[in-house]
Amino acid sequence: MGWGETDGSNASRRTVLRRVGMIGGAAVVLAGCTSDGHASDDGDANDPDDTSRLELIHWWTAGGEEDALEALLDGFLEEHEEGVIEENPAPGGAGSALNAAVQSRLIDEEPPSTFQIWPGEALRPFTDSNVLAALDDIWSDDMREAYIDSVRELSQRNGVYVAVPVNIHRLNNLFYNVDIVEDVGVDPRSVDDPETLLEVFEAVADAGYTPLAHQTQDAWPTVQLWETVFLGQHGLETFQSFLDGDVDGLAEPVAESLSLIERYREHVSPDASSIAWDEANAQVITGDAAFTHQGDWAAGHYSSAELTYGEEWSHVAFPGTDGVYTMVLDSFVMPDPNPSPELTSAFLQYCGSVDAQRRFNQPKGSIPPRTDVPAEEFPPFLQDQMADFDASGDQLPTITHGSAIHPATKNQLEEAFASFLESWNVETTAERLLEIVGP
Ligand code: GAL
Repeated sequence: MGWGETDGSNASRRTVLRRVGMIGGAAVVLAGCTSDGHASDDGDANDPDDTSRLELIHWWTAGGEEDALEALLDGFLEEHEEGVIEENPAPGGAGSALNAAVQSRLIDEEPPSTFQIWPGEALRPFTDSNVLAALDDIWSDDMREAYIDSVRELSQRNGVYVAVPVNIHRLNNLFYNVDIVEDVGVDPRSVDDPETLLEVFEAVADAGYTPLAHQTQDAWPTVQLWETVFLGQHGLETFQSFLDGDVDGLAEPVAESLSLIERYREHVSPDASSIAWDEANAQVITGDAAFTHQGDWAAGHYSSAELTYGEEWSHVAFPGTDGVYTMVLDSFVMPDPNPSPELTSAFLQYCGSVDAQRRFNQPKGSIPPRTDVPAEEFPPFLQDQMADFDASGDQLPTITHGSAIHPATKNQLEEAFASFLESWNVETTAERLLEIVGP
């Protein structure tokens, strides 16, 4: 069976199955998992659909990301021919639809085998309700030695491993179309702060191009733009105070950064309110827009569009954030109980391997969290990001992508930004943000 076939159990789901056989001929069945195609209460160990099927919920359907996941799953199936993969995507950038999908499955006691999640604070609701298995056995000595320390820390809750990260994205990027900046005569490498970037946008607009490809249909791209501008304008200490909820003295810096975003606003894509992040990014690809601020999943998109780094598109750290690497990580976890415990364990072990991280990160536009994945196999852009990571004094977690702030607080911040995108009221939004994170 090849990619693209469905199990027909739910016509509204895009499920993809690849069936090769049963896991080692021996199935383990967990009582209580009664979802379509999963083990029934009394468990039928002879049904190959049960424990040899790995159901994976993710949101990687956008440019470049699909290729990366496919590369990962192909690698896994090469080592585990007995496995069957059932992809069950919950599309929506930055997981905008995934959380609800996973939560309802857990509430219904129909857990998937695994799902995509950011390590760090985003894990907290799941560990608080005890629905994730401990992965200390999967974290072999080899993995513990090979992973970057900060990533290992984010993979644990209360000293227990509960997640296996597969990548490190960077958030504080500014990507650009080389032809446009050359035509306008601006040099992004000489822009040192977010205010000067506004002057560059003005020059680009005067030359008749859209300065900033951006989407406002969802709030998250503006939250991530704000957190990056805030960091670029006011530095690490102020950023950390915001994360800590230590809001004394933050009213002015927060208002300043919102006010700059408000001034960027007239330079964003004319169709910002109706496009997705990859459609905004495509405007840089086609030469309709000069810049975009995005995590380096955007670079995976440039590669899948076969554009040449340094010639057609290029990159600088977002102005004011040179020397900082704001990390966005993705990981997989093991819901407990689990419909396919052996296969899920095998998958998580594979995600922690050199082979998985070599295959996945190149098309994804991210760098491996293991330090022993050969760098020379990676494209020049990612080799540059690896060098920046190594040289970075500070590797920060992020608000928008779940590692730094509890999901409930993050949701409130997103709601505040959704209102900002309607009212553009700097003062009330600044007050609201501080109220949310403050004591
Ligand atoms: C991030 C995720 C990335 C990428 C991005 C855009 O939160 O960590 O892997 O998918 O969202 O959707």
